[in-house]
Amino acid sequence: MSAVGSNIPHDSAVTHVTGQSTFIDDIVPARNELYVDFVGSHVAHGKVTSIDLSEAHRIAGVVRLFTADDVPGHNEFGPIIKDELLLVPVGGTVTYVGAPVVLIAADSRAALRAARKAVKVSIEPLAPIFSIDDAISAGSFIGPERRIERGEVEGAIRSAPHVIEGTLEMGGQEHFYLESQAARAEPGEGGSIVVQSSTQHPSEVQSIVAEVCGVGFNRVIVQCKRMGGAFGGKETQAAQPAAMAAMVATLLKRPARVVYGKDDDMRFTGKRHPFKIIYRAAFDNTGLLLAYDARLFSNGGCTCDLSPSVLERALLHSDNAYFIPHFRVVGRVCKTNLPSNTAFRGFGGPQGIAGVENVMEEIAQTLKIDATDVRHRNLYRDGRGQTTPYGQIVGNNVLPRLMDELRDSSEYNHRRREIDRFNATSRTHVRGLSMSLVKFGISFTKRTLNQANALVNIYTDGTVMVSTGGTEMGQGLHTRVRQIVADDLGIDYEQVVVGTTSTEKNNNTSPTAASSGTDLNGAAAAEACRALRERLTQFVAPLLAKADDGLTTSPEHIQFENNEVFDTRHPQRRMTWKDLICRAYIERVNLGERGFYITPGVDFNRETGRGHPFLYFTNGAAVTEVLIDRFTGEMRVTRVDLLMDAGVPINPGIDRGQIVGGFIQGMGWCTIEELKYSDKGHLLSYSPTTYKVPAMCDVPEVFNVRLMHNPDNAISIKRSKALGEPPLVLGLSAWTAVKNALSYRSGEQVARLKLPATGEEILMTLTSYDAPVKPGRATPMLRAVSSAGQS
Ligand code: MTE
Ligand code: HPA
Ligand code: MOS
Repeated sequence: MSAVGSNIPHDSAVTHVTGQSTFIDDIVPARNELYVDFVGSHVAHGKVTSIDLSEAHRIAGVVRLFTADDVPGHNEFGPIIKDELLLVPVGGTVTYVGAPVVLIAADSRAALRAARKAVKVSIEPLAPIFSIDDAISAGSFIGPERRIERGEVEGAIRSAPHVIEGTLEMGGQEHFYLESQAARAEPGEGGSIVVQSSTQHPSEVQSIVAEVCGVGFNRVIVQCKRMGGAFGGKETQAAQPAAMAAMVATLLKRPARVVYGKDDDMRFTGKRHPFKIIYRAAFDNTGLLLAYDARLFSNGGCTCDLSPSVLERALLHSDNAYFIPHFRVVGRVCKTNLPSNTAFRGFGGPQGIAGVENVMEEIAQTLKIDATDVRHRNLYRDGRGQTTPYGQIVGNNVLPRLMDELRDSSEYNHRRREIDRFNATSRTHVRGLSMSLVKFGISFTKRTLNQANALVNIYTDGTVMVSTGGTEMGQGLHTRVRQIVADDLGIDYEQVVVGTTSTEKNNNTSPTAASSGTDLNGAAAAEACRALRERLTQFVAPLLAKADDGLTTSPEHIQFENNEVFDTRHPQRRMTWKDLICRAYIERVNLGERGFYITPGVDFNRETGRGHPFLYFTNGAAVTEVLIDRFTGEMRVTRVDLLMDAGVPINPGIDRGQIVGGFIQGMGWCTIEELKYSDKGHLLSYSPTTYKVPAMCDVPEVFNVRLMHNPDNAISIKRSKALGEPPLVLGLSAWTAVKNALSYRSGEQVARLKLPATGEEILMTLTSYDAPVKPGRATPMLRAVSSAGQS
């Protein structure tokens, strides 16, 4: 039976459930291991004037304290530009609350905690910037303005029958992975060092550790067995704890570990980028979008990190599923005094898509027609337009099919009529219904990153180990890679294991990100298997020929299947895989191979804003219904119907898990999760008590998830489609459903709504639709409650 296509349990299913899976902080400490933590800035912006370590030095168990002067190599690092400091020196500028200034190495966690309180860092405050608006006023930006443009936006807007304009504000999102940022370093001989890191990007951790420690990349081995979740948060920001642990291990010649506490992790690491989109949209009487003109501002935080790439993906997704003839999106990253914002599942895509999905709802409200009809009119479609504003043709376009199938299966039309009736009569509640779509581009927009290598070793008992640069964060990469290798060598899934990801085995690897982990690493592993099969075929053909007299066996007829190798024309000529490997070893056949893969054809010119950035698109649609209590603003998602184009899934069960998890995480961003800061830039919502992520009780009461069968995508590994990030975008349908619900109460005005649509935001919006409050009268909310009492 082939492994690919079957519902094999996740590689770590049993060990996760039984608690045997190890994460960084589960590694049994070495006898002389040090606990390491940092003391960061208590102000968001300021100049470090002095550091006083005298009191901390006196604490028993404190082994050493380090400042910027102790960094053996470079103190500067960063994924795009090296604008980050491992430790801010005296005289240097701190640019966010938590910016590390002092490193503490101690024999116990208790000593670490005591020392953290005893270190005195004096900082002369400077004026901070926190919001996008303040950054725009101050001209505080990172990188140049970016733009993607097609057609004649101004002309189209001038001559259009309808124009709407507005501003959409979106909040950030905490990654809330269960395993905090963590790393452990062990020093070796001659300046070498082994780092175990909870990272999506072992090669980047390797290079940063090497530069901080002042050694060649070849002296540093970075390993990642797995992460307890990452969601983009460990693409770049796993490097800081790894560099801290490595620096201490190198200087003190002792193993060292850094594990951020949950609160610290939430307070001091970057998040999803908040965005502000200022837009104009022109359309005709039928809802056809003629022009979209948007300015996107993201809150990048204090350093560059990946912000320009996140902005780029937001711009590239601002069309979403819709052909827009006249199109102009212009983007800027704002520099503020918050922790540097970073990759988060969707990588700017959700923010760009929110912009145009918001417009779809507003067109419908303006024309008093159904938003699903508006979306349908504007779809990329044969005869209407299949070319994106950046010039890539939308291939294998299943969007119309997805929409039609989901509209039927979700009983959209029937439910719309029912909701119209309900909302006309209910005095207590309002319901909303909305379909939103996703067209998500698969590939790194940076061409170089679209490469992978894989090592496949066959041992003399016939078992196989495959190692790639891909990292496991729960998404099922290792399971899929095992399935691919098992099938390609014609052996059982159980005969294959995936080795710990390590820079020693796989060099110069890309982050496991952009949803392309399986596409890239699976293809590299498949390439290694192809080469092994070819070599083994050459070896076995003459052996099989000898099994029968007279007839020949030529390599093109040899097949590997069911733990055997055989001649397809003379199936009696066969040998077990075990035998084959045993004999191949004796005859000195090379039983290891390294595969290499590059994504064909991808290219994008960021100066012109044109090109072919994506290998293909993953599409999906969701219809979401919400029920809102008009007196409290409390919202419940009552039903979701979701249809996803996953190509031909390698593991339908794992894909389903990704879809469900992604949707709920997106819904959390749109409707529940809210980051609150003090006016000094301290995060107030820094623990689960004040920052609410979706829980079991928030899962839709009815949640129908289907995978659409689409075998026409021949371009990616085993005809599968990447879907780590795309389903998150469909969480937006909960937000558009709220917007739809509010439109039943907003009278003649278009219902405007911030993202996230928290209960508070919904209540305030509903309240604003009521008659203005006269002095001395009850507030609208109180009036609503008392009228409810009468009904
Ligand atoms: N699923 C789990 N369980 N945990 C994670 O951290 N990260 C997401 C997604 N799904 C994540 C996840 C993100 S941000 C990406 S880019 C992809 O997985 C990365 O893995 P893939 O490329 O192998 O799909
Ligand atoms: N997606 C996710 N992560 C990335 C990308 C991207 O396009 N580019 C660089 N890191
Ligand atoms: Mo995912 S945001 O590309 O790590």
